[in-house]
Amino acid sequence: MFKESLAFGDVLLSPQYSDITSRREVSLKSALGNLKFTIPIISSPMDTISEVKMAQTLGEYGGLSILHRYNSTEEQVSLAIDCTGIVVGAAVGTSGDYLERAAALKPHVDVICIDVAHGHHLLMRDAIKELRKVVGTEMHIMAGNVATLEGYEDLCRWGADSVRVGIGGGSICSTRIQTGHGVPTLQSILDCSSSPWAGTVAIIADGGIRASGDIVKALAAGADFAMIGSLLSGTDETPGEVLTGTRGKYKTYRGMASAAAQMDWRGRTASLEGISTTVPYKGSVESILYELENGIRSGLSYSGARSILDLHAKAKFIKQTASGQMESSTHILNR
Ligand code: XMP
Repeated sequence: MFKESLAFGDVLLSPQYSDITSRREVSLKSALGNLKFTIPIISSPMDTISEVKMAQTLGEYGGLSILHRYNSTEEQVSLAIDCTGIVVGAAVGTSGDYLERAAALKPHVDVICIDVAHGHHLLMRDAIKELRKVVGTEMHIMAGNVATLEGYEDLCRWGADSVRVGIGGGSICSTRIQTGHGVPTLQSILDCSSSPWAGTVAIIADGGIRASGDIVKALAAGADFAMIGSLLSGTDETPGEVLTGTRGKYKTYRGMASAAAQMDWRGRTASLEGISTTVPYKGSVESILYELENGIRSGLSYSGARSILDLHAKAKFIKQTASGQMESSTHILNR
């Protein structure tokens, strides 16, 4: 028998008795060790998402950005030094200059994110060990990505402080098409959150989050944070020019394993596991964060939950049929 594997669209949260009279009563606080956040949102370490403007704006809003690693060490360090008065993270790999990069970033960031596509890997085990020697015991080490309980628990045992969970679910990913591998992100979170490590080593739901409702489902499944790319793409705070075409203004959003991104950062292509696309220009990211925050607050109140921990305890998932899925989307336009 194949294991059943549920995606965000397959489930809903059953509304529950609530005594919450205002969305302001709901706390969205979450933490990575001693680092505290007021909104459980982390921006993806991608070169069309997370540089200084995103880090500064999202950081001031109460979330976190991970500065991408598709640049020289000097460039990445200078991005970290422009960021002021916020918590910020930066990505490194598991080979090449990653130890020198981490050493240079150490004085300027609060989180080092070991950012690889397949994180349940021997190289990850060695990288966590070596990086710990370089950045010390105080630095928060985020690692990933993994898709399974075994992957999550190995990264926990190897010394990660938080783990990015989700493989192949991102809006610009083609990993599942190219390699036949992956797990729907919601299922990965449900599996990882069954571990005794959950609650100690934060779970970051990463990939495929399309709306605030998916963030609520991810948190309800046991995640502590949602990492998002596409929802933040096309905003003023993302790197890249605003372009104008016949359909109006737009910006580029691309997977870091797309041909265009690989050519830019390493001058050649290997396995193509992402695409490059354009998205409508959306203006300031603050209005998007505000909408997401309101949606998440409302979502918690539908479950009668005053905090993310409360939601972990109270959430009741139901599975939808195809008819339910159709009913759940705005369907008047289909008539
Ligand atoms: P969303 O759905 O928020 O997903 O746009 C963002 C996440 O996608 C991952 N990512 C990739 N995955 N090929 C992949 O398979 C890629 O080229 C790629 N680039 C980014 C990453 O985890 C990010 O946070």
